[in-house]
Amino acid sequence: MTSVLGVEKLVASIVENLKAVASNIDCAVACVSGGIDSTTSAILAKRALGDVVYPVFIDTGFMRLNEATRVRAALSGLITLEVYDFSEYFLSRLEGLSDAEEKRIAFRDLFYTAVKKVAEEKGCSWVVQGTIKADVVETVGGVKTQHNVLNEQLLGKYGLMVIEPLVDLYKHEVRAVARYLGLPEYITERQPFPGPGLLVRTVGRLRRNKLELVRKLTDVVENSFVNKGYSQYFPAVWEYSVVESSSTNGVEYSVHGVKVTGVFEGKRSYGHPLVVEKWPRNVDVYGLYREFDTVEYPHILVTLAEKESGSYLVALRVVKTENFIVAEVPRIELGVLRALADRILENPEVKAVAFDVTPKPPATIEYE
Ligand code: XMP
Repeated sequence: MTSVLGVEKLVASIVENLKAVASNIDCAVACVSGGIDSTTSAILAKRALGDVVYPVFIDTGFMRLNEATRVRAALSGLITLEVYDFSEYFLSRLEGLSDAEEKRIAFRDLFYTAVKKVAEEKGCSWVVQGTIKADVVETVGGVKTQHNVLNEQLLGKYGLMVIEPLVDLYKHEVRAVARYLGLPEYITERQPFPGPGLLVRTVGRLRRNKLELVRKLTDVVENSFVNKGYSQYFPAVWEYSVVESSSTNGVEYSVHGVKVTGVFEGKRSYGHPLVVEKWPRNVDVYGLYREFDTVEYPHILVTLAEKESGSYLVALRVVKTENFIVAEVPRIELGVLRALADRILENPEVKAVAFDVTPKPPATIEYE
C-alpha cells in the first residue's frame, strides 16, 4: 500500500466505487474540517462526482485560531471551501455541560443538525465525510463516541445519507493517499485534530473564557512542537480543584476533581487526573505512572510550573504513535518543558502547568 503503484490502484478503486453509485446521488456536501481525513475525502469525492459535490467548512466554534482562513488558503487551487459560521449556535447550546460523553453526544447532534441545514440549503441528500477505520473500531469497541460514526438509526434521525471514501483505511494509508493526490504539506503532515475539536480539551464544564484560553494556548503549544516528529501535541485545560493530597516514597501528589478518560480492558474508563507536584531527584518522571492505580487515575501528570493566583490547570500532552490506538510519551527534557510552562503561566487565569507522562493505554490521548 505504501508503494506508489499501490496508492495509485487504491485511489483508482475508491474513485471507481464512488462513480458506481453516482447515479443515486443528487448532490453532496463535503464537510472539510482542515484535517487530513475530511480533506482527502472531499477531494476524492470531487474527483469522482464533480460539480455535484460542495466542499464546506462548518465553523463549530471549537476550531483552532483562524482555522477557516488558514485552511481555505492552504486548499486554494485544489478546492474552493464555502465557510458556514455556526459557532454561536454550538456555543450557546453546549455552554455549561460538564460530562464528557454528554458533551460528545450533544456536539454530534448539533453537528449533524448544522450539516442538515447546509445540505437543505444546497438541495442535497448526501454528505461526504472523512470517517476512517480507527474511528469505527474505537466507537464499536466502546472506547468513545466518535462524532462522525453514525449507525442506521442516527442516519434516519438526521435524514442524511453518507459517503465515506476512506472508511476502510488507517491513518498512515490516508496520508499516503493525500500525498499522492498532491495535497499541501500543511494538510498531509498536520497532526490529527478531534472532530469535536477544542470541546474535548476544555475538560469538564464548558465555559467561554476557558475555551478561549484553550484556543490561545493551542496555538502556542503547536508552534512549540511542530516538526519535531511527535504525532500529537496539544494543551487541555481544567479547573484547578484538588480533592485529595498525599505522598508516597517522597512523591507528593494531588488528585483533581475533574473527570478524565482512560482505556481499561479495551474499553473507555473514567477517573481523575493525578498531578505529581514534587518528587525526589533520582526519580524518573517518565516512569511515574507505574507507581499509581491508573484505573482510578488514568492520567498521571508532573507539575512544571505553578503560581499562587489563577484558577486553571493546563495539561500538556505530547505523544508518538503509529495507529493512535496505542501511544507513547516521548522523553522530552524537563528544562524544555519548563521554559514553555513558564510562558503559559504568564496568562493570569493559569495557576499551574503540568506534563502528562501516561502512555495509551492506560490513558487515552485526549482527556474526554
Ligand atoms: P483517544 O483520546 O481516544 O484519541 O486516545 C485517539 C485519536 O482520535 C482522535 N479523536 C477523535 N477524532 N473525532 C475524531 O475525528 C473524535 O470524536 C475524536 N476523539 C478523539 C484523537 O485526537 C487521537 O488522535
